[in-house]
Amino acid sequence: MTLIAVEGIDGAGKTTLAAGLAAARPEVVVLREPGGAALSERVRALVADPALDVDPRAEALLFAAARAQLVAEKLAPLLAAGKTVVLDRYVDSSLAYQGAGRELGVGEIAALNAFATGGLTADLTFYLRVPPSVGAARLSGGRDRLERAGAAFFARVVAAYDALAEAATDRYVVLDATQPPDAVLAQALKHLQ
Ligand SMILES: Nc1ncnc2c1ncn2[C@@H]1O[C@H](COP(=O)(O)OP(=O)(O)O)[C@@H](O)[C@H]1O
Ligand SMILES: [Mg+2]
Repeated sequence: MTLIAVEGIDGAGKTTLAAGLAAARPEVVVLREPGGAALSERVRALVADPALDVDPRAEALLFAAARAQLVAEKLAPLLAAGKTVVLDRYVDSSLAYQGAGRELGVGEIAALNAFATGGLTADLTFYLRVPPSVGAARLSGGRDRLERAGAAFFARVVAAYDALAEAATDRYVVLDATQPPDAVLAQALKHLQ
């Protein structure tokens, strides 16, 4: 049983890599965050809605609630059944976005998420590293509420991801996500072998 998280800022290529992994490894189950379960998908719509005023603490709790449901309803049963699950974002997204980006404190968000997940952590984390300008340039069309956060916010998010990668070298695999999608996928598949 293996839980693989894909992390990085908006536009880094997480969803593209998750789809590539699923195509290369059909036995893998791909789930996205926030989402992946009915309740969690409804929370996703709430947190993305630019029309809503969402306080940072409320935002952190909404993401944690969505994650708790995903763990209980999907992740725990899948892992117990021996499946390999690829998650398009997991706990480290909250550490980076709410902990650092919203400046709520990485330690406090870690504690909140330990409660939400019952302590379920990723076995492997692919961190798609790109400068914020590259991620932003790849986002076409409308931006959701979080994607509209400013340059200083995304600089804090990237710095937090970098710090997590340095602190958890046993689980973190940093991929240069400025490379083309097939090169990023090839790097990730090499690590899975
Ligand atoms: N490695 C890459 N190089 C160039 N463009 C990419 C790469 N990965 C993804 N893209 C494109 O960038 C956009 C955002 O990719 P996506 O996978 O949705 O990012 P994320 O899920 O991290 O926000 C999409 O249009 C996608 O086709
Ligand atoms: Mg995505």
